[in-house]
Amino acid sequence: MCGIIGYTGILNAGQIIIDGLMSLEYRGYDSAGFAYFPDNNTDKIEVIKSTGKVCNLENKIHENIKENHPLCGIGHTRWATHGGVSETNSHPHSSGKVTLIHNGIIENYQELANKMAAKSKYPVSQTDTEIAAMVIDSYYNGDPYEAIKNACNELDGSYAFCIMFSDIPGCIFSIRKNSPLVGAVCDEGSFVASDVVAVIDYTKEYFILPEMTIAKLTKDSFEICDFDGNEIIPEIMHINWDIAAAKKGGYDHFMLKEIHEQPEALLKTIAPRIVNNLPDFSNDGVDDSLFTGLSRIVIVACGTAMHAGMLGKIMIEKYTRIPVSVDIASEFRYADPILDENTLVIAISQSGETADTLAAIKLAKNANARTLAVVNVKGSAIARESEYVLYTHAGPEISVASTKAYTVQLAIMYLIAYRMALVNKLADESVISLKISGLLDSMDKMKKMLEMDEELYLITSKIKKADNIFYLGRGIDYAIACEGSLKLKEISYIHSEAYAAGELKHGTISLIVDNVPVIAFATQDNVYQKVISNVVEVRSRGAYVILVTKAGKHVDTTLCDHHIVLPRMDEEYTPFCTAVVLQYLAYYTAIRKDLNVDQPRNLAKSVTVE
Ligand code: AGP
Repeated sequence: MCGIIGYTGILNAGQIIIDGLMSLEYRGYDSAGFAYFPDNNTDKIEVIKSTGKVCNLENKIHENIKENHPLCGIGHTRWATHGGVSETNSHPHSSGKVTLIHNGIIENYQELANKMAAKSKYPVSQTDTEIAAMVIDSYYNGDPYEAIKNACNELDGSYAFCIMFSDIPGCIFSIRKNSPLVGAVCDEGSFVASDVVAVIDYTKEYFILPEMTIAKLTKDSFEICDFDGNEIIPEIMHINWDIAAAKKGGYDHFMLKEIHEQPEALLKTIAPRIVNNLPDFSNDGVDDSLFTGLSRIVIVACGTAMHAGMLGKIMIEKYTRIPVSVDIASEFRYADPILDENTLVIAISQSGETADTLAAIKLAKNANARTLAVVNVKGSAIARESEYVLYTHAGPEISVASTKAYTVQLAIMYLIAYRMALVNKLADESVISLKISGLLDSMDKMKKMLEMDEELYLITSKIKKADNIFYLGRGIDYAIACEGSLKLKEISYIHSEAYAAGELKHGTISLIVDNVPVIAFATQDNVYQKVISNVVEVRSRGAYVILVTKAGKHVDTTLCDHHIVLPRMDEEYTPFCTAVVLQYLAYYTAIRKDLNVDQPRNLAKSVTVE
């Protein structure tokens, strides 16, 4: 949460920071700010802030800086944690010679604030970040390294800082703990940012700033050292997706583009893991021994990733008969979970930096459980903390509402289930080979679903007027219903709930009255009739029913207002098609309500706070 970027070089820092912040806006978008050295030779830092989107800040920068463009600056786009949305609370924050921006949370800020007040220094904002600026400044006597080191020894919590000292013009210092920060150097200067999307216009080479090291950026150098002053050489990484992947590419919204990218993302994720039509993780360095001798599997994740885990549980249990539990990471980490060396903990995360999922995987490691991360962002914290990693290859997902990252997570869970079945000799190669063919085939089915946009758009004319909506399903379809409900709430602001279809009559059916939309998924043969009975129950109470089935089912047309028919397919793969249904329904409902689809209110893409 919060996007930060620093640049020093030979180009217009104002423009670079604005462009970078726009690409980082998915991390927070309630206010933004920019600090810069107006002239590289003066002992002065100027700050410009604005509430609202980065474009507001851009206008202010253009009003304030008409000539002599700065060559060094830092910028921040905020998702408020401490203190409301205001210019005073937005970053950068200054104290004495120190001006900084921050992504993370300083947990002991109150205690530090009391200490500062005892020294007659009072914050002007309500933020934890200003306290960090005060602490660093209190230690600053001309040596930035000592000041940062001493201050960081006092700060608890998570942070990625870009710091400028007014008497060291042209220079930016950075440090991070449990918050992401990448560095990059090119002919035009040095960069530091929360995400590579902010630097990809300038270079495809980057590195992850090692935790608790101090980086010093100048226009032609990027030096990193540890707290003892030893030089650190980071591992250079290469961005393996094209810059076009981080742009809208002709689509109205990133979400729509990302929905359409799913078949390709699936192919990129699955294809490298198929050898002789069987799942194979040897290129990922995932040893088969990880999948043997297990008494239990625990999947930890949040939000959409957790919904992918729900499907993972169904698949793994089906093929291995090993008990799998799915835990919300924020609950798991405080639940004193039962873990041992025969437990495999799988963390699923698009960003690879979700604070609770990260904490969960650390906890699992400390309890000697085996750990496997399924993440999208290369080198992210969760990937680095886990014993093994399987990267999903969705490419950058910019829209806050997760779409393609979800379906590639599903695909990896299917591959894990199939590989575990093979390794433990629970299924023949011939059986699994057929499954792989089915999985690959579902990408074509998904392409067909993408053509149903108009049909689904029409349905949303009714949904957009609703105050409450219910999603129903059983088994695989219940997991899908959960994701459908979250997606709709997230971007259309309509209250919705997902229910296991059989559970509705244990209380919630009292909410079904005339015209309440119910979206029922009935794609699984073994429970098809059961779900239809549940549909009859809500229909007889006046529900406006949207029923989703596979092709080949004879459906009584009086049962529903809309019947969405999936292509003819094996029921195991219907999630790759029902995912498109729920994504389109949420997307077009938000469009009809004229809402900001890619940046819904109160949300941020990476949830790096608890
Ligand atoms: C999904 O649309 C959400 N934006 C959210 O639930 C997300 O999936 C969750 O915050 C987990 O994020 P992660 O995958 O990056 O860990």
